[in-house]
Formats: sequence, C-alpha cells, structure tokens
Amino acid sequence: MTPQIEIASVDKHYGAYHALKDINLTIPRGAFTALVGPSGCGKSTLLRSIAGLESITSGNLRIAGTEMSGVPPRKRDVAMVFQSYALYPHMNVLGNLTYSLRFKGFNKEQARKKADEVAQVIGLTELLERYPRELSGGQRQRVAMGRAIICEPKAFLFDEPLSNLDAALRVHMRMEIRALHDRLGATSVYVTHDQVEAMTMADHVVVMRAGVIEQQGAPLELYDNPANKFVAGFIGSPAMNFLDATVAEDGRSARLEIAGKPVLPLARTLQPGREVTVGLRPEHLRIDTAAPRLQVPVRVVESTGSLTYSTTETEPELMIVEQGRGRYRAGETLPLTIAPEDIHLFDPTSGTAL
Ligand SMILES: Nc1ncnc2c1ncn2[C@@H]1O[C@H](COP(=O)(O)OP(=O)(O)O)[C@@H](O)[C@H]1O
Ligand SMILES: [Mg+2]
Repeated sequence: MTPQIEIASVDKHYGAYHALKDINLTIPRGAFTALVGPSGCGKSTLLRSIAGLESITSGNLRIAGTEMSGVPPRKRDVAMVFQSYALYPHMNVLGNLTYSLRFKGFNKEQARKKADEVAQVIGLTELLERYPRELSGGQRQRVAMGRAIICEPKAFLFDEPLSNLDAALRVHMRMEIRALHDRLGATSVYVTHDQVEAMTMADHVVVMRAGVIEQQGAPLELYDNPANKFVAGFIGSPAMNFLDATVAEDGRSARLEIAGKPVLPLARTLQPGREVTVGLRPEHLRIDTAAPRLQVPVRVVESTGSLTYSTTETEPELMIVEQGRGRYRAGETLPLTIAPEDIHLFDPTSGTAL
C-alpha cells in the first residue's frame, strides 16, 4: 500500500474553537475514503486542509510523499468537486472542461484533444457544445467531474457533491462516481453526512464527531464491530436500538430495563450486577413464535413491501425490521429473539464497546 495522503497529528483551531483534534489518517493510493459524521463535526475543515484552503494549526500533511506546509492550493495537484456545480454559465461544456488547461500551458489543439478524451471517459462527447443551462443536474455533475479529471490530480476531494440532487439521481450518481474512480485508478476523499452513501461508496470509512475521529475502517467492519455507542448508532439504518441493562447473576446474560424485564443470553461473561448499555440492531431482532426472548407490543407498522418496520409501544421504543410484509399489526405483540453474538454491549458512562 503506497500512501497518497498522510495526515499525522493534525489540529485545527478557528480562534478559540478547536475544529480538528489530533487527526491521524493515511489514505492509500487508489483508495476511496469517506469522511462521515454529523453536520459541524469537521469534515469540510479536514477536506479543505488537504486542499490547502485552510491552514492547519499543527501536525503534518503529506500528499504523494511531499510535505504540504506552505504549499498553496493550486500547487497541491488536488481537485475539489463541490456540491454546487459552479460551472461557468457563459461557456459551453468544452469551454468549462478546458478552462483550467489554459493556465497550464496547453494550446487550443492540445486542450481540445484532452477534452475529447475526458468526454469519452465520462460520456459527455455528445454534449460538448451545450451550455450549463441546457444540461440536467446529473449531466452538470458529470461536467464538474470532467473538469476535475482533466487536470489529472493526485487526489479527488468531494464535499457532499450529491446533496442537491433528487433521491433517484443521487443513487445513480453514487455508482457513477465510484465507477469513474475505479476506471481512473484515482485516489478519492469523499465527505458526506449520509452514512449510507459512505458505506456503499467507500473502501474505508472515517467516522468523525466534534473534531475527533471516532473510528475508521472498512464499512462492514464498522457495522460489525463499532468501537463505541456513537459509531454504533451512526452506522446502520434504521439506527441501532439502545437499552439499559444489568448483567445477571450468572454473568452470561443481561436483564433489560424494559417492560417485563426480559433476560437475553450474552456471548461472553461479564461481572454480575454490572450496568451496561445493550445495542440491538433492528434487522437482528427476529420474530420467533417458538421460544421468544422478549415480547413487545407494537404501536406502528410500516411496510414498503420488501421491508416492514415496526415501532414498539415500549419505553424506550424499539425499532424492528423484517424482510417482506410483516405478519403483525399495530396493537399486537411481537415475539422476538436475537442471537447472542448479535448483541452489542457498551459501557453506559463512556460509551466504549465492551
Ligand atoms: N471559518 C471558520 N471560522 C470559525 N469556525 C468555523 C469556520 N469554518 C468552520 N467552522 C466551525 O468548525 C466546525 C466544523 O465545521 P465544518 O468542517 O464545516 O463541519 P462539517 O463539514 O462536518 O459540517 C463547525 O462548528 C463550524 O462552525
Ligand atoms: Mg461540510
């Protein structure tokens, strides 16, 4: 693995505000890395620091082996792809594609040749004469991508590029961007607040909160082994259910603080009497009429046909997802079970996974 972007002990202060706290992250050449987290957690700040649009307060940042401190944005050889397409409205697609090449010493003919190549790769050949107002949202997005590609950057930096698109186009563009990344053998860093986008597009997902990297790893690694309650609740949709519980006398089961005080067997031994937070993913709670572990009344049932979501009438409420059309209606009682190895346990104070 050759590192393309290396971020070591990076801190960023905006005056008194500590926006990035001891960020350590290595992005391999050719990888698609997603930075994900709630609004305001520092994703854009980190991305803009890589681009050189923000200065870092301390730490080291290297791109393709070169230390970037003091290197201005245009000398960093990275391409930002923004949410707003920011195309030049008075230039056609060809003009938009080749604009930046003028400053790189390309003559008209060379620029045209390069634009043709890029247009071929991303399917814009038929559109070169059109103006931005004559393009759909998806096509404009592609021109913005093309404009980034034409400079052959060392990395593509995306800051929520799909937020302005409707749901169907967003799903389509997700695949297009990822396919393009693969075709170009590019290195991409992709900022999003949408964990589904991060999980489906990236090889490596970095979960941030309040300026800190909470956890990073392969998408399913984060899903299977969240390091703490925050990551557990952030990754996965619908979100994990959390319940207070107490470890029973045998140390191998936990009594849930929910109506009926059901006891769930655990896959491990803990100190009897210890208080824990139990995490149950909606999709891991299964209907079990033969030997249910917990029986919970249902308040709302919603079905999309392929999936059924049930919300319980308990305190706290639980969310359960079933494949297909649900067999139970609002007002009925769901008999549920969960495999011990699917039960997540957290320290109730620190939130750290046990
Ligand atoms: N130029 C700035 N001056 C002061 N605070 C800023 C500035 N830019 C961002 N911030 C603050 O830093 C935090 C992180 O912002 P940002 O990186 O944009 O978050 P995200 O992209 O994850 O939504 C936010 O609390 C934001 O208000
Ligand atoms: Mg942002």
